[in-house]
Amino acid sequence: MKGIVLAGGSGTRMYPISKVYSKQLTLIYDKPLIYYPISVLMLGGIREILIISNPETIPLYQKLFEDGSHLGLKISYEIQVAPNGIAESFIIGEKFIAQDSVTLILGDNIFYGKLDFFYKALNHNKKGATIFAYQVNDPHRYGIVEFDQNGKAISIEEKPKNPKSNYAVPGLYVYDNKVVNIAKNLKPSSRGELEITDVNKAYLDLGELHVEKIGRGVAWLDTGTPEALLKASQFFGVIEDRQGLKVACLEEIAYQKGFISKSEFKKVVENIPKSLYRDYLEKILDE
Ligand code: G1P
Repeated sequence: MKGIVLAGGSGTRMYPISKVYSKQLTLIYDKPLIYYPISVLMLGGIREILIISNPETIPLYQKLFEDGSHLGLKISYEIQVAPNGIAESFIIGEKFIAQDSVTLILGDNIFYGKLDFFYKALNHNKKGATIFAYQVNDPHRYGIVEFDQNGKAISIEEKPKNPKSNYAVPGLYVYDNKVVNIAKNLKPSSRGELEITDVNKAYLDLGELHVEKIGRGVAWLDTGTPEALLKASQFFGVIEDRQGLKVACLEEIAYQKGFISKSEFKKVVENIPKSLYRDYLEKILDE
């Protein structure tokens, strides 16, 4: 299973900072936003990761993560020249995906809590696609799934004016290798994008779309606006301060998952400048 993080988009709802800075590098409490989606892939055991972003931001991610080897990962990079839609990821990532299955996570999507829903989807290896459904208050902003009385998904619509349910599709998708061809055959939508919802509809038409509901114990946080970013920062600030444990601390996850040895972890920690982040990792090293 390969992993793609799409950290594109113009982020114009964050104007004026969007003129010079990518949203996915914004601090969520104590680390860049993109750490959170990468942590989800790592927790799922995915170690080959492709980051896709615009030409201006790719060099910043390369500086941040290099080739990923210090985290026991293999990270590569590709450019999305223009915001042509989420589904373009599979065309840009075709060579990276090769013959494998792929999980896509959007660079601004945060999941917190028990991620069993995701681990199960990775392990059951069902043919087709597995996507998720999460109850939200503002369904017109998302891809929305409609279920029949037996809980079977029967329709998906992108940002519907009259949503048929409150179940939004989060930006985390598990696909088999067919996704590359499906993406190549898509036509741009009325907003000029290759829509991920159209990929999911193609799987639905094939009878190969699995939609798993995420329970209310999991937080799926939105980071689309300055207010949402502030709320996410407060959320993780409260939890981290209470427990003395960090969420989405990639170095810690790499060590705890056995992606790097204790001596490799020690080297990573020694290379971090004096900071609260380093203090935290030193504590983990001493445990
Ligand atoms: C995108 C998808 C949408 C999905 C959402 C999750 O929306 O198009 O189906 O529900 O991500 O974050 P966008 O970011 O384009 O508004």
